[in-house]
Amino acid sequence: MLVILKRDDEESSRQAAQLIASAVRKKPTLTLGLATGVTMLGVYKHLVRLHKEGSLDFSRVVTFNLDEYLGLSPSHPQSFHHFMRENFFAHVNMASQNIHIPDGTIRGNYDEYCAGYEEAIRKAGGIDVQLLGIGRNGHIGFNEPTSSIGSRTRLKVLSQETLDDNSKSFTPGDQSPRCAITMGIGTILEARKILLLATGTAKAAAVAKSIEGPITSAVSASALQLHPEVTFIIDDAAASQLTQRDYYHRVLEMTALLTPERLS
Ligand code: F6R
Repeated sequence: MLVILKRDDEESSRQAAQLIASAVRKKPTLTLGLATGVTMLGVYKHLVRLHKEGSLDFSRVVTFNLDEYLGLSPSHPQSFHHFMRENFFAHVNMASQNIHIPDGTIRGNYDEYCAGYEEAIRKAGGIDVQLLGIGRNGHIGFNEPTSSIGSRTRLKVLSQETLDDNSKSFTPGDQSPRCAITMGIGTILEARKILLLATGTAKAAAVAKSIEGPITSAVSASALQLHPEVTFIIDDAAASQLTQRDYYHRVLEMTALLTPERLS
């Protein structure tokens, strides 16, 4: 696990975009797992900038989003389809057939639909780089506390903490979705590389538990300790409860000297 400590949200998202950009340059047919949420806005902004500057081609990149709210159509302004279109896809040269986001409008046979999503990931050759945010409760995707570490893409009931956080982006009075379709923790752990971005003090406790706490289904992101190629990019505020910050800084200095490609 590599822990990259950055000063603020701007530096963190720039670094995350840089790592994704270099993965795309190395492998133009990259399969990229994507996340939504406030933390990702800066990452997409920088990826769009690099594309517009002419240095980043998404035409052969394949994407799989982590999750979507159940009950929201792709045109709903709070849907993750809408988020991705507005903040990323509409501004880069992704081929529409290469974009995969769980369908929030499905009814009935959820298991069959979710198995199909997993199959599509497999057919695409698996996810090369998975981008993740983290919830205040340690969720990755919508794998709420107590999610099985082996879980696969499925229908998931959202926790109260997540409902409270989400309600801020829905119109007051409107009920925000209670459920989502999400990749499982087992699905996420099969990605070849994982990049988790966390910024702001609200994430500090979840970040500390995920990196320095025990592996437990009570903190879904702690399962990332099982993965051999995880990079956390964390700003000062989100890193404030980590106890080994000096060590992470030393590791970073040595990484820059010995294996600089891991940082660019
Ligand atoms: C969204 C997702 C979630 C978010 C997390 C953080 O696709 O998978 O796990 O990454 O809830 O959201 P923000 O960045 O809005 O705090």
